[in-house]
Amino acid sequence: MKIEAEKLREMYLKFFESKNHKIIDSASLIPENDPTVLFTTAGMHPLVPYLLGTSHPSGKRLTDVQKCIRTSDIDEVGDASHLTFFEMLGNWSLGDYFKEDAIKYSFEFLTSKEYLGIPKEKLYFTVFAGDDIAPKDTESYNIWRSLGVAEDHLFFLPKENNFWILGSGIGPCGPDTEMFYDTGKEACGPDCSPACDCGKYLEIWNDVFMEYYRSEEGELTKLKQQNVDTGMGLERTITVLNHLESVYDSDIFAGIKSKLEELSGKKYEDYKSSFRIIMDHVRTSTFILGDDHGIVPSNIGAGYVLRRLLRRAIRHLKKLEINDYVLSDLASIYIKEYDSVYSELPRNKEFIFVEMEKEYNKFSKTLKDGERLFYKTIKHLEGNTLKGEDAFKLFDTFGFPIEMTEELAHENNLEVDREGFDKCFKEHQDKSRTIDAGSFKGGLADHSIESTKYHTLAHLLLATLQEIYGPDVIQKGCNITTERIRFDFNCDHKLTDEEKKRVEDRVNEMIQTNTPVTWEEIPYEQAKKEGAHGTFENKYGSLVKVYTIGNLSKEICGGPHVENTGVLGHFKIVKEESSSAGVRRIKGVLE
Ligand code: ALA
Repeated sequence: MKIEAEKLREMYLKFFESKNHKIIDSASLIPENDPTVLFTTAGMHPLVPYLLGTSHPSGKRLTDVQKCIRTSDIDEVGDASHLTFFEMLGNWSLGDYFKEDAIKYSFEFLTSKEYLGIPKEKLYFTVFAGDDIAPKDTESYNIWRSLGVAEDHLFFLPKENNFWILGSGIGPCGPDTEMFYDTGKEACGPDCSPACDCGKYLEIWNDVFMEYYRSEEGELTKLKQQNVDTGMGLERTITVLNHLESVYDSDIFAGIKSKLEELSGKKYEDYKSSFRIIMDHVRTSTFILGDDHGIVPSNIGAGYVLRRLLRRAIRHLKKLEINDYVLSDLASIYIKEYDSVYSELPRNKEFIFVEMEKEYNKFSKTLKDGERLFYKTIKHLEGNTLKGEDAFKLFDTFGFPIEMTEELAHENNLEVDREGFDKCFKEHQDKSRTIDAGSFKGGLADHSIESTKYHTLAHLLLATLQEIYGPDVIQKGCNITTERIRFDFNCDHKLTDEEKKRVEDRVNEMIQTNTPVTWEEIPYEQAKKEGAHGTFENKYGSLVKVYTIGNLSKEICGGPHVENTGVLGHFKIVKEESSSAGVRRIKGVLE
């Protein structure tokens, strides 16, 4: 049976729905309130609070398809199996069923004719062998055996293979049992097992029994409930079950592959690596831009990953001699492919297209000159290592992410002096920090200039909303990263497009007044008398810091802020939505 993505998603969710699981939507790709990672890397990420014991509004049995991004292997993309974006199918028990039901459900879904119908003989399983901190998982072994799994289809493996925790190494975790498909290839030797990567056994599913919490110090303690977290990679499972040579041969990529063949006049078979890099990177970029968070290409954080992905895709498009702007056409193929599952993609279509085109325009101008400089430099190179300062010049003047220069170097059998590059980079950073520091008020130079701008923006935004909707508007919440602001305020209706534009225009007008931002420390009562906004408790009698932006805004605030509104750039609302009853949330960016 040929299994396509849509079918597998539907089958999986239906199966678990029939076992009393509630289907929940994929969470965002950008983790809320977790500054330790840039992207959601596994289905469990957004569910951590519930694994720890908070009750979930949809109950104790959940199932979902979660959008994930893992960029640690980004340089491997181009081979048959690596992807930076993938979907993870999962079923969850939040303190409800444990090993027995989890394993029985997995076995039924894999082998039942109504579902995947894989012959038992083709399946192999691994369980945790135990160590000094967590015991051997004989319980899972016995459950598999009770379902008729032969002894020689079961393997006990150590924690490197069969104990699962998020990449940070902190949080809910536990032993797991993994399910493998036997491709029928020759065994690589007498010790061949699912633990080796010879390609005979391919993993398709992982059931994690999360009953521990691992602290920063590495200590394991029991959680207050026993949970199940499972993960089945959608693309990978389709590839394995359809006996495809590569993940890029699945139905998901069929549309974009033929579009690239048409645009380039070249065959995928002859240019696999560039095709795959473009297919992967455009897909991931489409999902990042389409995620409602207003992430745009930049030089830091998630924005930098997006920039790398887009610039690498642009370079490989040029390698295929596709010189026109085609990114939006390619993205629209994905938007169509996924529109019934991820409605945020069609909703953010214009934003995706506009940002891709902006990045293309920025980079395509310098790409050619940068490549010319690269080839000129290597012509006169002594030895086979490109100097750090040359790589830095490509970065600084031509916008080449260092990883792209390394890729170019490898294509020409060269290395890059990465240490030298890092040194130049740091020197440059220190220099610009000194410059930035001069523009801070309040002396808190350890805050990045980017987030400082957003703090000042928050004051202008509040002032604007009060101007438009009246003095009763108050700030209900504010969350700032280096890339965006999320601002909550009391308001009884959804803002229309005209209203959003009015807010944007007024904020931008304020920015353009180039008004200095000043501060003073005065008694709380005086601040209130002078009309400073800000609700602070227990402040009577104490001194507070008040930031004033000309006659535009006066707020009690700890700072820091920029010196002058003019440095903020251009404000744009990327989203307006309800936050809770009577509270609206604006997500905005500075460009
Ligand atoms: N959290 C587990 C994984 O990502 C299921 O493999």
